[in-house]
Amino acid sequence: MFEIAPSILSADFTKLGEEISAIEAGGASVLHFDVMDGQFVPNITVGLPVLKSVRKATNLTIDAHLMIEEPSRYAVKFVEAGADMVSVHVEADVHLQRTLTAIREAGGKAGVAINPATPLGALEEALPYADFILLMSVNPGFGGQKFIPTSLDKLRRLRRMIDERGLSTRIEIDGGIDAGNISGIVEAGAEVIVAGSAVFGGGKPTEAVKELIDAGTVWV
Ligand code: DX5
Ligand code: ZN
Repeated sequence: MFEIAPSILSADFTKLGEEISAIEAGGASVLHFDVMDGQFVPNITVGLPVLKSVRKATNLTIDAHLMIEEPSRYAVKFVEAGADMVSVHVEADVHLQRTLTAIREAGGKAGVAINPATPLGALEEALPYADFILLMSVNPGFGGQKFIPTSLDKLRRLRRMIDERGLSTRIEIDGGIDAGNISGIVEAGAEVIVAGSAVFGGGKPTEAVKELIDAGTVWV
């Protein structure tokens, strides 16, 4: 089983409520909320006030992806503002175990996000404290980038790493995913699939979510 997590980064912010209703109608179960600070990544997006409004507008699982420096300063605030899942980048936090534990203690699911060129070994000691890993299949910062092909092998290796340790850590993948490549990604072991431009780019988010679910459903 896999879930589709549309990224509102590619949504029309002037009608966010409608966009959210549209993805719900298509069968999305997670809302991916991209937070960028203009430091960790070269772009600035949305933060706590927008999250609070979005929380009031939906019962979907809200998944805050913090692409920010010093995420330990804000991670718990995102849980308090309504995020169910919060991920921080392994590259940005030197006290990752403490941050993950704080997210869990605040009642959130704790995630570690990892950039394409960061080796999986960087996750080793953090895995037992993480509810999920967010594997980046593009360099974070912008929607609409191309899926980096080596991410598929990295995903398989991450799947193996988690399974071999007998952990229940979930795998989420983010960047460049569309109806053309989703089935291989699901087969390789991803459970939460983020999609921004593939969902909102064509102006028909309900249909686009349905199409992704269909394309990702591998009939054995
Ligand atoms: C990239 C963000 C992604 C982005 C995905 O920095 O973390 O969540 O919105 O968008 P697409 O699916 O268009 O690559
Ligand atoms: Zn993201």
